[in-house]
Amino acid sequence: MALTSHRTRRLLLFISKPLLSALFVTALLRLIFYPSSSSKKPINPHPHLSKALILATTASSNLTWLTPSLIESTHWDTYIYNTSLTPSLLPQNSRSSPSQLTVPLNKGNEAMPYLTFLTTHYHTLPSLMFFHHDHSQAWHQPFSSSFELRHLNPLTVLRDGYVSPRCLPGCENVIELSGDVVPLEEMGTATREVQISTLLHNFWLDKNGNRQKIPEKIAAPCCAQFAVSREAVRRRSLAEWEALRDWLVQTELGSRQSGRLLEWTWHLWFGKEAVFCPEEEKCLCDVYGVGECGGEL
Ligand SMILES: *[C@@H]1O[C@H](CO)[C@@H](O)[C@H](O)[C@H]1NC(C)=O
Ligand SMILES: *[C@@H]1O[C@H](CO)[C@@H](O)[C@H](O)[C@H]1NC(C)=O
Repeated sequence: MALTSHRTRRLLLFISKPLLSALFVTALLRLIFYPSSSSKKPINPHPHLSKALILATTASSNLTWLTPSLIESTHWDTYIYNTSLTPSLLPQNSRSSPSQLTVPLNKGNEAMPYLTFLTTHYHTLPSLMFFHHDHSQAWHQPFSSSFELRHLNPLTVLRDGYVSPRCLPGCENVIELSGDVVPLEEMGTATREVQISTLLHNFWLDKNGNRQKIPEKIAAPCCAQFAVSREAVRRRSLAEWEALRDWLVQTELGSRQSGRLLEWTWHLWFGKEAVFCPEEEKCLCDVYGVGECGGEL
């Protein structure tokens, strides 16, 4: 048996070598004779996928890094929310302008635009979404934002449902939860741990709409940037996403506190394990194809 399969493999190798050489030569010739064919219009390697980039910006954002050519070559449909802009601030005639996406209320930092996108587009979601800050580089980003947009592997997002663009050697922001909760209207005076437990207790439901057991520990790479699949969003009903956004609108907690509660828990809403700390090398390979990724071939 082993001998046969060995022979088969050698035979396959023997046949595939000239085939690969032919392909290589064809590609080379094409490059020599039609050098501009690839630079005219950027080829979309995943034309069957729709990809949305959801950016949270403020009055002081500098978006010069997000150039039209970057957008065109990376095939992201951009949704730029301006948290300094609520509908009442818009001139009447520009209300539907795509460059002027608004939030109902400037609260919870990036959480408000993110939840606004999810609830507004729930029935027409793209295949995958990248929720991102406005900066081109930050201490919590190993790569520039333009690199992330260029290299984020959409197939990994589809496979995993939720992906952090931040690959780390270890676990970050481990928060231990006692499971103690308070009424929602008393969150303001509670500790961070109780606030998180209370939020989960009220809004973190399983497929049948039942409360899930509050984890003893949660962890995920920092900073409220992530890519998710349509399926990961739709694990939760529209009503559940709306309830979370309504809580954000109504809570007495300020922007910073309410925003951070969501920052620590995004991975949970999208169905990841409570302690979400992907191994660094694997993460770099899976998310960006960076490193010695040694695939099947
Ligand atoms: C957001 O809106 C504010 C207020 O209208 C405006 O000053 C600012 O330039 C806008 N930011 C962006 C990135 O468009
Ligand atoms: C915006 O950022 C670019 C670099 O990305 C910089 O050259 C430019 O001066 C910045 N603009 C402002 C108004 O800060």
